[in-house]
Parts: sequence; structure tokens; C-alpha cells
Amino acid sequence: MLPFRFGMRVDGNEFCGRRQELDQLRAYMESSGRVYVVGERRIGKTSLVFEAARTLDGTRVVDVDLLAVRSLADVTQRLAAAVVRAETGQVRLLGLLKGLAQLRPTLGVDPSTGAPTVGFAPGAGGRPESLESVFALIGQWPQAVVVLDEFQDILSVPDHAAVLAQLRGLVQKQPRASFVYCGSLRHRMEDIFTRDDSPFFKAAMRLQVGAIDRAEFRDFLAAKFVGAQRSVAPGLLDDICELCHDNPGDVQRFCTALWQVTTDGQALTAAELPAAWEMVFAMHAQEYEVILRNLSAQQSQALRGLAALGGRSRLTGELLAATGVALLPSLAKALSVLAGKGLVVKDGTEYRICDPFLIRWLVTRLS
Ligand SMILES: Nc1ncnc2c1ncn2[C@@H]1O[C@H](COP(=O)(O)OP(=O)(O)O)[C@@H](O)[C@H]1O
Ligand SMILES: [Mg+2]
Repeated sequence: MLPFRFGMRVDGNEFCGRRQELDQLRAYMESSGRVYVVGERRIGKTSLVFEAARTLDGTRVVDVDLLAVRSLADVTQRLAAAVVRAETGQVRLLGLLKGLAQLRPTLGVDPSTGAPTVGFAPGAGGRPESLESVFALIGQWPQAVVVLDEFQDILSVPDHAAVLAQLRGLVQKQPRASFVYCGSLRHRMEDIFTRDDSPFFKAAMRLQVGAIDRAEFRDFLAAKFVGAQRSVAPGLLDDICELCHDNPGDVQRFCTALWQVTTDGQALTAAELPAAWEMVFAMHAQEYEVILRNLSAQQSQALRGLAALGGRSRLTGELLAATGVALLPSLAKALSVLAGKGLVVKDGTEYRICDPFLIRWLVTRLS
């Protein structure tokens, strides 16, 4: 069986390290704190937050994913569904549904797990009172952790300022619940929590999630290989962490590829890396082709030029030359569109391609 996990949150034995962050988060959660968690994609924010909540006794976890949310009704419905999921007692569940009557709920059963599911009438819940009724239900619980994942996407809701203002007011009236806001688009998250014209200005403590301690993560990965009598040459896992910029999700993806091109009992060395790269590309080629096809000529040139310089650069003459774009302002525009698409991040004055495999794919396949 494949021992690596990627593209999903991990917990329990699959969760490595981060003891300090877990303690810190649990302390916030126990004291009805408000915290916002930022970090790159696939660094492990969602896993960290849910592992902290999972290992906290006697707490209900309201798990709301706001990815690509587009309207107030959508926000309200997702929150309401999460509240229903957090309630396990059947009698209390009926009480909850009464409280959500405005959303016209329909109860169902998940055929694979047997767990209750809830649906709402399309578009129902678009009024502020509906959101208020969902918060009223949360307020009845002695202790709850409300996790709002991909929170920055709320900025795509029309009239998001009013929605955020209402949310802030409702959160303030919850003395017994803690609120954790997670997000991967750092600038948008910082806008929400640090701009003095935002309703959430200074409304939460900040927790930045970085790499997992290298040695700890390396041992965790090595144990998975060794468990199948696959020995790993010294330094190999360090090299892999390096080429994945210590992003745990990317490291686990690469290890999956390495696993697939090797067999039990084999001694793994750097000689296996080219085949592992081929496997990584096979796993992602389709996705990368779609990305490229959806770029304008200048955006594509900008991305490829940036990849040619190792995936990161400031807006310099050298970058301009590498891209073949004629004018600096056109290049700046193209890069900012790429940033908007989540392909590139801007750190200070530097632009960086987020996905290390895309960098390598662009360089080896398209040059
Ligand atoms: N603590 C961890 N231990 C092991 N792997 C992890 C850990 N955190 C993250 N990962 C890896 O990263 C992937 C993405 O994690 P996730 O929590 O979804 O990140 P994010 O929410 O930051 O995008 C996981 O599927 C897993 O491969
Ligand atoms: Mg996440």
C-alpha cells in the first residue's frame, strides 16, 4: 500500500511534528481565542488546525471550507451545514434544523458512511438574519472551535465589506467558541486582519505556518520507506526536501513518485531521481497543460522566463530578457495576473512560482 499522503489533510499517525504549533493552537482554542493561520499552499495549515482541534477534549469542531465562495447565501449555507455536521446527537440535530428553518433544510443520509447530511434550498440564506440564526446555534454549545478555511475567498463575495462586518459582530458575541481563520493567499489574509479599514482589523492573533522541522520530517519519511525494506541513501531525503523547498505536501508527492518507480527491498539512491521526476510529470502533465493553455501569450512568456531563472526573480532587466516580453510594465501586468491565478506569489519585491514541479516541467518540457 502507498504509505504517503498528499492532497488531503493528515492527522494522527500521518501527522508529523509541529508540537509547538499544536500546543499554541490548542491553547487559543481552549481559551475561546481568535487566530488566523497563514502559510503557503500545501504547507500544512489545514492539517495543523484540525489536528489541534481533534486532540482537544470535549470540543465540537465546526469545519467550514470557504473555497470559491461567491455569495452570502453560500457562506451561510456552508456554515449551517458545518454546524449540522458537528452535532452528533440525533435529538439535538432536529432542534438544530428547526433553528435553520429559514434555509429550508432537507435531511439525507450519506450512503457510504451512514452519517446524516443536510442540504438547503438553492439561494436560501441570503439575508443577514439567516447568518445570525446559524451563529445562535453555535452559541448554545458549551465549547466549540469554528474553523473557517480559505477565509480569504470571502473577499470574492459581492458586498464583502458588509458580510465581513456582520461576521465580525457575530463572532464578538460568541464568548465560548474559538474561531480559526485559515488562508493560503497571504496578501488577502493580511488585508483582512491588518488593514485598519477592515472589520477584522486586529480581530485575531496571527500564526504563520512554515516548514516542518527538517530532521523530524526526514525521519518520518524514512520510516515509511524502511517499513517496506526500502533503504534510503544518506542525504537523499534531504535532497528531496530541498528540491521541494521543504513544502511537506510537495515532498510527500515526490516521495509518492519515488515509491512508484521503485520496489520493496530496493536500496534507493540518487540514481532513482530521474525516473521519479518522470513520474511526477506524468502525474501533473495534464494539469500543467490546462494551466498553460489558459494563459495569454505574455503570461505564458512571463511564467516560462521566471522558470528559466530558477523559478524566482525580481522585476529586473534579466527577467525581462528571459521572458522575451518587450516592456517592463507589460511584464509586471502579466506577473500580477499570474499571482492572481495563484501560480506565482510575490514576496516583497520578488516573484516566485509556487509549485517546484511546474518550474522543472516548464524548463525541461518547453525549452
Ligand atoms: N504535519 C504534517 N505531517 C505530514 N505531512 C504533512 C503535514 N502537514 C502537511 N502535510 C502534507 O501536506 C499536504 C497538504 O496539507 P494541508 O494541511 O492540506 O496543507 P494546506 O492547508 O496548507 O494547503 C498533506 O496532504 C500532506 O502531504
Ligand atoms: Mg488547506
